[in-house]
Amino acid sequence: METVLSGIRPTGNLHLGNYFGAVQNFIKMQSQYNCFFFIADWHSLTTHPNPQDLYANVIQVLSEYLACGIDPNACTLYIQSEVPEIAELYLLLNMNAYVGELERTTTFKEKIRKHPENVNAGLLTYPVLQAADIIIHKATKVPVGKDQEQNVEIARKYARRFNHLYQVECFPDPHPFNFGENLIKIPGLDGSGKMGKSDGNGIYLYEDAASIRKKVMRAVTDAGPQTKNSQLSEPIQNLFTLMNVVSKPETREFFTDAYANCTIRYGDLKEQLAQDIIAFTTPIREKIDAIKHDTAYLKKVITLGTEKARESANKTLQEVRSIIGFKKI
Ligand code: TRP
Repeated sequence: METVLSGIRPTGNLHLGNYFGAVQNFIKMQSQYNCFFFIADWHSLTTHPNPQDLYANVIQVLSEYLACGIDPNACTLYIQSEVPEIAELYLLLNMNAYVGELERTTTFKEKIRKHPENVNAGLLTYPVLQAADIIIHKATKVPVGKDQEQNVEIARKYARRFNHLYQVECFPDPHPFNFGENLIKIPGLDGSGKMGKSDGNGIYLYEDAASIRKKVMRAVTDAGPQTKNSQLSEPIQNLFTLMNVVSKPETREFFTDAYANCTIRYGDLKEQLAQDIIAFTTPIREKIDAIKHDTAYLKKVITLGTEKARESANKTLQEVRSIIGFKKI
């Protein structure tokens, strides 16, 4: 069975785009592949979070994954920092990672541009740590968004470089895993583009009703249909796309018809959409809350995930140590 692996940095909550995109696919994949899903808390240290925030965010993401249906018995769900084997492989991979090539990665160049005051070595070697994450479980499929494809390519380069250097076939090639057409793209509320956390155009699973309503009521629209059966503008199309995933088909039809014959009132459309989003997210938010406060359950999940992840990681690491020449006498 092929191994799938994906990590998420614990910075901020999951939005509807994450939910209908990555998370739904993880849920499907967990029964079909040998899946590793983890919280990349070491990676998040590049921005120096304070300890309380770091801890709260790790618990939040973990609770959100569990509330959405990621099943710790069907996959290996773990916290990166609980698996020291990853740090050791990162150290070893660093010896064959060249500063020049790391300086040329897009994400690094972007970070320098945005945060010239904090260009730390962790940032430079971020892709090396990500490569260690991936190849320590010999993962071949890495479901990531476009912005992360280069990091997966770097992981593949380091896997091959290691194999070549020692003339072994230790690591299989990891590849970005695009789930293609079944990936629903959820648009943001600002009229163009997809929902993303940095754009502030998103609605979160863990967001209260008042805040959701406020955001939806402020969503970008247009001047309204001028002629019958006119084509939808992008902001309106986006609101309908959201309706597609949270509203009843007849609700959507009602507003589509109203648009076609120019009787639509965007205020009503938004009010309905807000209600339907709230109805959709409320049970999930309640579940997140319950899990977040169930320390005994979380502890059990973390212990199980750590055990499974370390067993797999340790197996690879023993092999790597011996290949490099660290032999037990
Ligand atoms: N860099 C990824 C992000 O910012 C998170 C991540 C860390 C990751 N390690 C990974 C993703 C390994 C896939 C595989 O989204």
